[in-house]
Amino acid sequence: MLSIIKKSGYLCKKFHDMLEKIQALLAEIDTLEAHSAEDIEALRIKYLSKKGSIPALMADFRNVPAEQKKEVGIKINELKTKAFDKINSLKAAFDSTDTDADDIDITRTAYPIELGTRHPLTIVRNEIVDIFSRLGFSLAEGPEVEDDWHVFGAMNFADDHPARDMQDTFFIEAKPDVILRTHTSSVQSRVMEHTQPPIRIICPGRVYRNEAISARAHCFFHQVEGLYVDEDVSFTDLKQVLLLFAREMFGEGTQIRLRPSYFPFTEPSAEMDISCNICGGEGCSFCKYTGWVEILGCGMVDPAVLELNGIDSKKYKGYAFGMGVERITNLKYQVKDLRMFSENDTRFLKEFEAAN
Ligand code: PHE
Repeated sequence: MLSIIKKSGYLCKKFHDMLEKIQALLAEIDTLEAHSAEDIEALRIKYLSKKGSIPALMADFRNVPAEQKKEVGIKINELKTKAFDKINSLKAAFDSTDTDADDIDITRTAYPIELGTRHPLTIVRNEIVDIFSRLGFSLAEGPEVEDDWHVFGAMNFADDHPARDMQDTFFIEAKPDVILRTHTSSVQSRVMEHTQPPIRIICPGRVYRNEAISARAHCFFHQVEGLYVDEDVSFTDLKQVLLLFAREMFGEGTQIRLRPSYFPFTEPSAEMDISCNICGGEGCSFCKYTGWVEILGCGMVDPAVLELNGIDSKKYKGYAFGMGVERITNLKYQVKDLRMFSENDTRFLKEFEAAN
């Protein structure tokens, strides 16, 4: 009996000693400082290494009476975590001040940041739209996946017109009426069907034709369409607007000429050439030694088109024109191969950085 009391007395004392030790260590750890990596390592050895004071306490833990184990256990864990955290934070603070300021070359340029640039076709498209905006045209857009009516029917294409042929048009297999638009003229119809004149729009967009891909042709390309419908619109107005456009786009000295042509939706129709801006009209391989290059199709809106789209052709007249953005870009930047525009070769695209 006596020995048991003695024993538990001893254990109680042990328990108090331990708690006191833990308390003292907790306070001590708060005050730790280090001035070098060696200091930190010495602290680690003192408190946390196998022979350190904290593992020694833990070894003693088994002598703590069962009813006090929980309380002491919690305290020891607190101490261990605190010692770890303290030593780690000393390490972190020391690491961050460990850089020799002389090692940093503040004159060195930063890593180059790769900036994207606008695509050449976008640059030219924006320029075309900008010129016509200044002439009072507003932007209109329409869907690339279209129906036969807006691409052909409303544009006065006869039912058996060859342009509806599989050769030119991409059809959506399951729905023969749904096609990829072959020209931006479909936007004329999209606007006219819900707007009464005056209408003055410029419509940029991508178009698709079933053509073999080569340096001179692609199965998709870009057009900009223009339409003006109002009372008393004349062919002279059309010619003047196109002359202004050509001079803004290609320079003051640019000449234009109109040659008679045919489109189902314009009457009369014309194709417009500009004096070759590569050789200045002297003759070169680009203009096939004629001094002229074709840039767009145009004409007076056929009265049948106005009627098909709900506009009174006795009251209103209109003109329309359409041009290929690739063609204009080729002329401005002499891109010889159309495929360059869709290959995403950054060496090519970077050449237009300055034009952005
Ligand atoms: N839609 C014609 C084409 O794709 C261009 C054009 C538009 C011609 C408007 C006349 C008027 O070739």
